[in-house]
This record gives sequence, C-alpha cells and structure tokens, in this order.
Amino acid sequence: MIDFSSLAVPVIQAPMAGGISTPRLVSAVSNSGGIGSFGFAYDSAQKIGESLAAVRAMTRGPVNANFFIFPTVSPPKDGAVAQAMQALDSLGLPQGLALVAPQPPYAPDLSQQLLPIWEHRPAVLTFHFGIPSAGVMDRAHALQMRVGVTATQLSEAQMIERSGADFIVAQGLEAGGHRGTFEPDTNDAVLDTLTLTRLLSSRCSIPIVSAGGLMSGGDIRKALDAGAVAAQMGTAFLCCEESGASTAHKEYILGQRDRPTVLTRAFSGRLARGIENAFIRGLSGEPVLPFPVQNSLTAPLRQWAARENNGEFQSLWAGTAFGRARQMSVSDLMRTLGEELAQTGRR
Ligand SMILES: Cc1cc2nc3c(=O)[nH]c(=O)nc-3n(C[C@H](O)[C@H](O)[C@H](O)COP(=O)(O)O)c2cc1C
Repeated sequence: MIDFSSLAVPVIQAPMAGGISTPRLVSAVSNSGGIGSFGFAYDSAQKIGESLAAVRAMTRGPVNANFFIFPTVSPPKDGAVAQAMQALDSLGLPQGLALVAPQPPYAPDLSQQLLPIWEHRPAVLTFHFGIPSAGVMDRAHALQMRVGVTATQLSEAQMIERSGADFIVAQGLEAGGHRGTFEPDTNDAVLDTLTLTRLLSSRCSIPIVSAGGLMSGGDIRKALDAGAVAAQMGTAFLCCEESGASTAHKEYILGQRDRPTVLTRAFSGRLARGIENAFIRGLSGEPVLPFPVQNSLTAPLRQWAARENNGEFQSLWAGTAFGRARQMSVSDLMRTLGEELAQTGRR
C-alpha cells in the first residue's frame, strides 16, 4: 500500500475528468515522484481499461483512479427540460447545433466502470460526491489499494472515516472543478482550504490530503503545516505540456488572468468553479436541470466550442489561484515544486 511519506514530492495531481488527465500527464507525475490521477467519472469501462493499460506501459509509479458517486435522479418533468433548453437557446446557439433532451441512464454504472480497476489494480482509488459501498471498499482493500474520498466539511469527513476509507481529500472553496459536497443544495459549509485542512486534521485520525488553490511549494508547505500529508493540485497542472486540457482552456488560464472564477451550476447542474465566460454569464439566474442531466444537455454545445477553440462556451474549470499557473513540463513543475518546498525548510 502506498505511503504518502514515501513520495519524493508530496503531491497528488488532481483527477480531472473530461479528457484532461491523459496517460501522458498521469505517468509524468508518477515518474516525477508524485501520484498521477485519472478522472474517469464519465468514461466507459473499455476506455478506463485502455487508459490503465497505457499508463502501466509508461510508469511503475503510483496511479490514482477517480470516480464520481453519481446521485440517482428521476427524469425531470417535460416543462423543466423545455425551460432549460430554452435558456440555452437564448444564448444564440451556432447554426446546425441541435439540443437533445437527455434520456436515462443519466450516468455510467459504477460497478461496470470498476471492472477494469479490479483487473489493473491502481495503487489508489478515490471518489467524489460521496462514499462508495462497503463492498467496493472491501474489494479495494483486499487488492491492496488505498481508498480516498473528498470532503468539504467535518460531517462528511467523519462519515468517510467511519466508512473505512484510508484518507480524506479536504477540498476547500478555492478549488477548481466540481465541489465534492455530498448534499450540495442544502448543506455547504463554505470553508477555505487551509481552515478545512486544519479542522479535519485536528478531528480525524486518517490522513488528510489538502486541495484547493495550492500552486507552489510554498502553498504545499502551508497545507502540510495545517496538518495535511500531501497536496492535491489540479489547476497547477492544467497548462503542462502533457495536460489534455483544450487549447482555449490553457489560453484562458495563461492569458485571461483578470477574469474572476465563479461557482456555477450552468454546465452540469452541480456547483463547480471555473473562469467566468459568456456561457456562465448568459445562464446566470436561468433554470438548469439537475446534475448530471444538465451535463448531458450542454454536452453538444461544449463539444462544439472545443472543436472551434471557443473559450466562451466550454467549461474552463480552474481554482481561484489560476493566475499563478505555470506553463512547463510535468517534470519541470514537479522539480520546481520540490525545490520551493525544500526552501521552506523541513518536509
Ligand atoms: C479541470 C478540473 C477538473 C476536475 N475534475 C475532477 C474530477 O474528475 N474528480 C475529482 O475528484 N476532482 C476533480 N477536480 C477537483 C480537484 O480534485 C481538486 O479539488 C482541485 O483541482 C483543487 O483545486 P485547484 O484546481 O485550485 O488545485 C477537478 C478540478 C479541475 C481544475
């Protein structure tokens, strides 16, 4: 089982679903002394198996496979779907782009997605939006994997600890991408990363990995001082050569540093932080479908925008500190993070 203190650089590259965490990115991080992570949330079992086989040919280092615990949603009423489609239409959709009302199943079947995991046995398995079943936890442990789950507040962390998980990813408000809150509509404690890390490390007995707005070795030091065993960093890796982020995503991170990041439900139906663009502004206050139905509804528009390199109509997930993202190779970034951390003193 992987031991965080044995990492040359105490960094987990955050799982980033949607084609960003490619085998190239993941293996480069693992080969540079950290843990590389796949964001497999929306992927088929076949794609997951291929990615794990590819990464094994590129590294013997520790790899994390990350999944969403999707909520069960009943089909939204026709009226709600029509309203959400109308809101998207009012943005002025490109000619020829047809919106389609999403049909169930709205999310992949986790038990199918996990089949290649049991075969390839990555060192780490993590979950976002909730806790996997006891059966999944037991099977992962029987295969010597470590299991981590995201928490954004103490009550979630305590449930994670009781579930038998091995570590908690403490995700603060600054984090890019989806907030991992279990009940996002009713119960968000809105804690920043270091406050949350301090709280969880003082109240929980399993290791805490800190996530949200951590960009440099100095930031990693602050997370370690707050009680974390490692930092999970997403935005810091988005502009690496090996990242599969779209061209527009990288261009906005590097070139639109005056823009704010905002938490929005507009893309997926669930709160996620990204760089503000025309899509987010246009849908502000408009009706959206529940997660992940809204994600399926907006998919054709986001895919069109990615093909056209149009940053105004795709999700540009990024943390509040995206202005400090660096464009370099993973090995250079990991070396730099290690050096900056060393300059701050003891590990
Ligand atoms: C582009 C992007 C995609 C993300 N996708 C996932 C994901 O699939 N699963 C997950 O657990 N977290 C995901 N996250 C959240 C990260 O795990 C982590 O909490 C976040 O990156 C930390 O904040 P930072 O981006 O400021 O480093 C994503 C973050 C970003 C920026």
